[in-house]
Formats: sequence, C-alpha cells, structure tokens
Amino acid sequence: MNQKAKLEYDDKTYEMQIVEGSFAERAIDIRSLRKDTGLITLDSGYMNTGATSSKITYINGEEGILLYRGYPIKQLAEQSSFVETSYLLIYGELPTSAELDEFSNLLTYHSMLHEDMRHLFDGFPSNAHPMAVLSSMVSALSAYYPDSIEPDPSNKQDIARLLSKLRTIAGFSYQKRQGRPVAYPKNDLDYCGNFLHMMFSHPAEPTYLPDPELVNALNVLLILHADHEQNCSSSTVRMVGSSQANLYAAISAGISALWGPLHGGANQAVIDMLEEIRAEGGDSTAFMEQVKNRERRLMGFGHRVYKNFDPRAMILKKYADHLLAHLKIEDELFDIARQLEEVALSDEYFIERKLYPNVDFYSGILYRAMGIPTEMFTVLFALGRIPGWIAHWKEMMEAPDVRIARPRQIYMGATQRDYMPRDSRRPPP
Ligand code: CMC
Repeated sequence: MNQKAKLEYDDKTYEMQIVEGSFAERAIDIRSLRKDTGLITLDSGYMNTGATSSKITYINGEEGILLYRGYPIKQLAEQSSFVETSYLLIYGELPTSAELDEFSNLLTYHSMLHEDMRHLFDGFPSNAHPMAVLSSMVSALSAYYPDSIEPDPSNKQDIARLLSKLRTIAGFSYQKRQGRPVAYPKNDLDYCGNFLHMMFSHPAEPTYLPDPELVNALNVLLILHADHEQNCSSSTVRMVGSSQANLYAAISAGISALWGPLHGGANQAVIDMLEEIRAEGGDSTAFMEQVKNRERRLMGFGHRVYKNFDPRAMILKKYADHLLAHLKIEDELFDIARQLEEVALSDEYFIERKLYPNVDFYSGILYRAMGIPTEMFTVLFALGRIPGWIAHWKEMMEAPDVRIARPRQIYMGATQRDYMPRDSRRPPP
C-alpha cells in the first residue's frame, strides 16, 4: 500500500506512510514524526496507539473475531488442546505429532520445582494472595536458573520450564494455602489433568484422578485465555523484556499487571459482585439501576476492543451450561449472572455503550463448578495467558528493530523554581 496521510503544522505539510495489516486495518506510521516536526503524540491509555506489528493474534472487536495465528478461537477451543495451542502461539504453527511429543515431553521433564524453591512457599503467610506468591515465585526462577538471565528466545528449555513450572507453582501455592502438603506432579497425567491433581490431590485420597469433563473444561478455559494481543499484561511483558531483562522477570511483571481488577482480576470481582447481589436478595434489576447511576460497576462487562460480543464469553457460557449439568450443580450465582446479562442486553445504557459480557463474566462460574476457590481465579487466567506472554516476548526479542520501550510525555508541572529553606516554605496563616 502506498497511501499517505498528511499533517499540516506550522505552515508546512508532512506526509506519513499508511501501514496496512492482513485484514486491511490501517495505521499512520509516525516513527519519524518527532525528528521531522518536533511533535510527539499524546494518547493516554493508548486508545489509538499501535505499539507494534505482530503475527500472533488478530481481534476484530466490531465483529467479535478472535484468531490465534489465523485459526478461529472456536475451532481451537473445540478441537485443540492447551499444549498444542501453546505451541501454535509460541512457535507460529500447529505442531506435527513428533513436535507435539517433543514439546509435551519437555513440559513433563520440567514440571518439578527445585526442593529449595519448594521451601520458599513456607516463607509466605498462609493467607497470602496466590497472585503475590505466583509473581514472586516466577521472578525467583531466574535465581534458580542463572543461565537464563541472558535472554535467549531460541532456548526451548527456558520456555518449557516456565510453562510447566508456573502450573506447579500454582498448584503448590493452593495446597500450602489449604495447610496441606504439596502434591508433586505426575508424569502420567496430561498438562491440565496434572494441574488438577496438584490442586486437589489429598494425602487421605492418594488415588485422586481428575474427572475427564473437568480436564476438558480446563483445556477450553486455558485456550480461551491463551492470548489477546496487546493487552495490559502482554504489553507489560514486552515493555519489561525490551530492556533485555530475562524471560522470568518479564513474565513476573506481566503477572502483576494481570492482577488488577480491570484486567485479569475481573473474574474474581465478578463472583464477589454476584455474591453481593445474592446477599442483597438477588434483585438484579435494582443492581443494574445502581450501575446506571454509576454507583456500582457491572464487572465482567465491557471491553476496550470488543464492541459487539466477546466470542470467548459465548463459548464459556455454553461450557458453563454443560459442566453444571454434568456435575448436577445448581448455582444461584449462575442464575443471577444470566439475569444480569438479560437485563443488560435489552437496556439502552448498555446497548448505547456497546457493553457485552467479556471472558470474565462466565469463567468464574466454571471455575466455581470445578471447585476452584475465588482467590485462585486470576492465577488460572495467568496459567492460560502464559503461552501468549511467551509468544509476545519471543516475537519482540526476535524482531530486527527491537528497541527499549520508552514513551515520552508532555510535562505540565511547575517551571523553574528556587530552592527555599524548610521554615520558609509555607506562607504564614
Ligand atoms: N459497567 C458499567 N458501565 C461501564 C462498564 C461496566 N462494566 N464498562 C464501561 N462502562 C461505561 C463507562 O462508564 C463509560 O460510560 P460513559 O461514556 O457514560 O462515561 C463507557 O461505558 C465506556 O467505558 P470506558 O471505561 O471508557 O471503557 P474502557 O475501554 O476504558 O474500559 C473496561 C474497558 C474493560 C476496563 C471496562 O469496560 C470495565 O471496567 N469493565 C469491568 C471490568 C472488567 O470486566 N474487566 C475485564 C476485561 S476483559 C479481560 C481482559 O481482557 O483483561
């Protein structure tokens, strides 16, 4: 494409190249803007800023399309496994059987934690939030694997180690929180089955075997969370990684970014909200009035990118129906969630603002049905998002034009002032 945009400023006209993506989405290339004009752009929240070009994930928010490496999310959720999807995101292609075997073997081989590292769990208070434990432990991996401090995106071992150990850390942190001994990973279980085993195996029930329906639901949940292009946590991973910090440091920062209630913490906030509505008598209409009066926020609704529907939420709602029926669970919170959705989809306030359920609206219901406690929900999001973070880190590190991420600012503070001695700083009353 050889189209240009023109900027008129200070009696001069500047031409800037239009860049076109695979689906004809367009951007103005402003890389030489400051050099040519002395201007920078101001875009808080990055509402209009493309931070990079990428080949990993495509989202069309208007039409509710989500593709990983070109494959529709629905096909992957229905036909793939989390391990296969992770390979696809990280290495760019679906694996052959031999490649998948090699990758799965690496994940199995690297699932154990160094025993010294296991003792680190004892240093945390028993009520520590599992996200605090997760980000600390992932950061600690660089202490146990000093060879990985020099970042190397071609190192398959570092990548498999992170994917596999994050799962072990998550399982161990839950068992410790319960006051139980950790359950070591088992080589004969697949990725998701092994996680459920590490979460739920109990010394009094050593023969625990995860229900295949739960394994299947977890696979789907993790696939749906596996990437979402330049969201807050993936952009954080890229930003930290751009300083040439090691992979574990970059991912630990991504975990912290994910924790906030406007990002991955929303799944926990949804359940808290549904519990509150139930405690107040279950009146979803009254709650929605408060949302419209801006006294409360409808968690699990709205998205910066999706302005029609979130395809992940649609798949999850279907799975929630299926799993609850399979487990013969009747969940009042699911009923309240359905009512809220019904009210919102026919209310002008939500229609006008294009607010629809996002991935977090129904994921919590599924986690609850699986027996996963609320404070672990965001950890599950991190477990799903890890291949996406790795893929972004790898893509950034392998790009020919990788530079440290360093935005600019418009300074609005005081101009030059003279230093004053302490006792003359405030005017007399
Ligand atoms: N409840 C009520 N009103 C809302 C909501 C909501 N959940 N989300 C947006 N709005 C209103 C907002 O008040 C604003 O109204 P007005 O124009 O009258 O001021 C309008 O809709 C636009 O919202 P915004 O806050 O400018 O939109 P944003 O793109 O900055 O924020 C969001 C996106 C996801 C942070 C926001 O929709 C939100 O806070 N949702 C609830 C939290 C949530 O579910 N987060 C999970 C996001 S999906 C998981 C992920 O990818 O991390």
